[in-house]
Amino acid sequence: MCGIVGYLGNQSSKDILLDGLKELEYRGYDSAGITVLKDSNFSIYKSVGKLNNLVEKSKNLSVDGFSVGIGHTRWATHGKPTESNAHPHIGEATHIVHNGIIENYQELKKELIAKGYRFSSQTDTEVIVHLFEENLKSSKDTFSAFNKTIFQLDGAYALLLIKKDEPEKIYFAKEGSPLILGTNRETGEQFFASSDSPLIGHVAEVIYLQDGEFGYVDGKNINLFNGAGDEVEQVYKKLPENREIAQKDGYRFFMEKEIYEQSQVVSDTIMGRALDSSIEFDEIDPTIFDGINEIKLCACGTSYHTALASSYLFERISKTRVSVEFGSEFRYKDPLLTKDTLFVSISQSGETADTLASLKMAKNAGLKTLAICNVDNSSIVRLSDYSILTRAGVEKGVASTKAFATQMVVLYMLSLYVAQIRNNIEKERLQKELHTIREIPNTLTVTSKLHEKIKRLSKRYLHGHGFFFIGRDIFYPLALEGALKLKEISYLHSEGYPAGEMKHGPIALADPELFTIALLPQNILYEKTKSNIEELGARDSTICVISPKSFELADDFIRTSSHSHYMLEFFEMMVVVQLLSMEVAIRLQNDVDMPRNLAKSVTVE
Ligand code: F6R
Repeated sequence: MCGIVGYLGNQSSKDILLDGLKELEYRGYDSAGITVLKDSNFSIYKSVGKLNNLVEKSKNLSVDGFSVGIGHTRWATHGKPTESNAHPHIGEATHIVHNGIIENYQELKKELIAKGYRFSSQTDTEVIVHLFEENLKSSKDTFSAFNKTIFQLDGAYALLLIKKDEPEKIYFAKEGSPLILGTNRETGEQFFASSDSPLIGHVAEVIYLQDGEFGYVDGKNINLFNGAGDEVEQVYKKLPENREIAQKDGYRFFMEKEIYEQSQVVSDTIMGRALDSSIEFDEIDPTIFDGINEIKLCACGTSYHTALASSYLFERISKTRVSVEFGSEFRYKDPLLTKDTLFVSISQSGETADTLASLKMAKNAGLKTLAICNVDNSSIVRLSDYSILTRAGVEKGVASTKAFATQMVVLYMLSLYVAQIRNNIEKERLQKELHTIREIPNTLTVTSKLHEKIKRLSKRYLHGHGFFFIGRDIFYPLALEGALKLKEISYLHSEGYPAGEMKHGPIALADPELFTIALLPQNILYEKTKSNIEELGARDSTICVISPKSFELADDFIRTSSHSHYMLEFFEMMVVVQLLSMEVAIRLQNDVDMPRNLAKSVTVE
């Protein structure tokens, strides 16, 4: 995801900013930019692609003496990765960098355009700088205008703002996106960053800003306020000393960090799309569904599991026929393609060779195409007629976790969107589903109680002749995904199976060394799934039940929360199977982030 750095002091701010951005490279980005403000003169540089391009562009700038500066690496969410969409964004006399998503940017943009403001980017961020300058006209000072501006923003932000006639100040605000402030008390230098690593080596202690906090630094003081406008105590914490640990934010593996990030990235993915009484996707034209009788979902691996899971939602909620295809199968099966089919490719990377080849076939057959993807400007996004970006940020762990979660929530929203534009859903039902979607981030928060329980339990699952993850309905694709996670990183044999199918063959394998991980939600097919689990228990399979309801015959039991909707159970159980797989693999001393024989992006068939 995007990264922010800021600096105020006597060293070369250009060098500090570029070094800081380099430390944030691991988060992924597709463009970058910096502004240096010295003696009321702005120097701004932006470039697309790698940071070296920015270094090259700014090579003639040398900065001696006091200056302030802000910098940013951008991971495209609103608008393509271009120089005009790269940060900093600029007004008449103000430059700004921003991480997060401004949910109400379209309303604000409309109002600002009506007042004569011109926009030079497609981003949500640009509204902030014009809104601030508009507020400045009616405010007694800069701070009041800044304060007023941030109270008009809905959504998530970490932002830094600098102003031409105040070349000794940086204004900052944080809500929902991380922002850290470090001070060198001896030199009076101030540093900002969106994660620890750019600050290491410059300061020993930092303030991790809290949601709602904002203020400004001026080289002498930090002026820090809370959401109510009251000055707050500055609480300093020690910085980690190791950069690798800093990049993992203290987690043992990127996979673990990414599991913990799911609540945040799913919130980001929902933002501006699940509204009070409707689902909106600004990036697609609703007419793409005109004349469509079938949706064909095509993907590989984990993304295929999202496709399969969402097929239950599309048929159930939007009453639209769905077929699901593996990219690697579809491309060679001489499929019958008709123009009343919408072809949807699902891919984290946007580069998977088999999914891409299938998309090309669909395009050649004249089908309308839509991509659900995590990487803007990837091959799959570029080739599709429309795309909806998941906002998972860079996923470093080879075993996909947060990409799966964000794909799932996009497809859930898309199934409601289709139902909504086809008038296939009653108002009340839509409200209930929207409420459920807004609840998902809460179910994804990993509690230490749950994690500890899974850590302890994992020691019993390090051997055996195989694992069966079982579930019914949409919990069957989740079982497939649980089994894939486990086999990828633990190298233990595991399969996902529909619980009701076990008696048609696989039950022959049942014995105490066959481990069954059973997904038993309370809101869908509870009794049926329970009976299937009991059948396996009666054949002495070792059973771990994941359920909100007690299950007396289970050898192990992981209790999930009691929710009113099966999709909330789905997301909570997803976290459980991810953590269980990871803890088993850690106990087996495997490299969880880089499992043997696997690559993050499979660009060959
Ligand atoms: C599993 C995993 C893979 C990918 C698959 C498709 O954890 O990550 O199965 O899901 O290679 O990749 P994308 O989604 O990039 O098309």
